Amino acid sequence: MAKRGIDSLGKLQGKRVLVRVDFNVPLKGQGAERTVGDDYRLLKALPTIQALRERKARVVLCSHLGRPKGKPSPELSLRPIAARLSELLEAPVAFVPAIVGEAAAAAVDALEDGQVLLLENLRFDPGEEKNDPAFGAALASLADAYVSDAFGAVHRAHASVVQLAERLPAACGSLILAEVEKLGPLRDGTAPGPVAVVLGGAKLDSKIPVLKALVPKVDAICVGGGMAYTFLKAMGKPVGDSKVQDDMIPEAHAILERARIRGRETGRELLLPRDHAVATSFDDPTGYKVVEEIPAGYMGLDVGPQTIAEYVHCLQGARTVFWNGPLGVFEKPPFHLGTHYLASYLGYNRAINTVVGGGDSAAAARELGLDEGMDWVSTGGGASLEFVQGDDLPGLVALPEA
Ligand code: 3PG
Repeated sequence: MAKRGIDSLGKLQGKRVLVRVDFNVPLKGQGAERTVGDDYRLLKALPTIQALRERKARVVLCSHLGRPKGKPSPELSLRPIAARLSELLEAPVAFVPAIVGEAAAAAVDALEDGQVLLLENLRFDPGEEKNDPAFGAALASLADAYVSDAFGAVHRAHASVVQLAERLPAACGSLILAEVEKLGPLRDGTAPGPVAVVLGGAKLDSKIPVLKALVPKVDAICVGGGMAYTFLKAMGKPVGDSKVQDDMIPEAHAILERARIRGRETGRELLLPRDHAVATSFDDPTGYKVVEEIPAGYMGLDVGPQTIAEYVHCLQGARTVFWNGPLGVFEKPPFHLGTHYLASYLGYNRAINTVVGGGDSAAAARELGLDEGMDWVSTGGGASLEFVQGDDLPGLVALPEA
């Protein structure tokens, strides 16, 4: 899957280069006071933006933010992101409250070589998510070349992600190239083994495809988070009032069976929590206790200490670990402990190559300042999972091969 980098675009001085980035980041504060709550995706976009500025291109950035459903929504304007990006770049970043049309074209025309402009939220226009050809053509008319660096959005067949490589000379930014290099071996089954996977998160349905894809390829899978309770119920274990996806129980059975058969043949394992931190509700940790069997009236909200010990023991033997999804309700202490312990173990253990799929697990690693200790923290949430599970992602397929 080698893609053409920006050098393939030739001389860029004075050229208008439209760059699709993923600046879908959390914002904090209200109204005009809103600021970027987590700038990881901005930081990861800097190398491509800087490389284009060094080549004296006129850089036109575009991104989505949130899900405004095709209508302008002031709370989801990209204006606060332009301000933060300008601080990170140590250079002005112009912002235009338009995506296509005269105002956008005028803002692009006003750029000088090496300058940067950010367009308004692409999803304010219904044409973006509908992959409307007229919207794609209008975006393309703003530029002489297109660079895609929005790894977090490559699983979306949206206009700015899939159409522009057909309409303009196109290349892949360095973030996408790095994501493909780091996640590719997990996808291809060529990561240095033993390979262990930690999968967590609330919902089993969103992890079924990646579980199916990984069970035959990896040496061990440690399951945590809310999805574990659906597996435990499928095995006939008591789950009390834990959140279970009853409609996923047949799928859970099928995965357990597949893992059991593989396990018998190969010694590979699928591990489930053996103890749990429970309480009567998410919001009231006062009755918090650690149990092996979840009693009626209690819900499982985190893995317990025996589980952590067992998972860490399993990871200790691995050379590569892929981690996606928290092991408990990590944003609500004390149910953060399992996730924090795991992040600390992986962050400090330099003998293990840890690749963190984006989303909440990446946020947890960064919150603890442990992301530097990981081999790679992906900027993709859904995109990193879909990539690892082997799907053809429309935004990658669209980009020209090297
Ligand atoms: C993400 O945050 O995973 C990407 O930006 C994609 O966002 P979406 O799920 O709203 O398409």
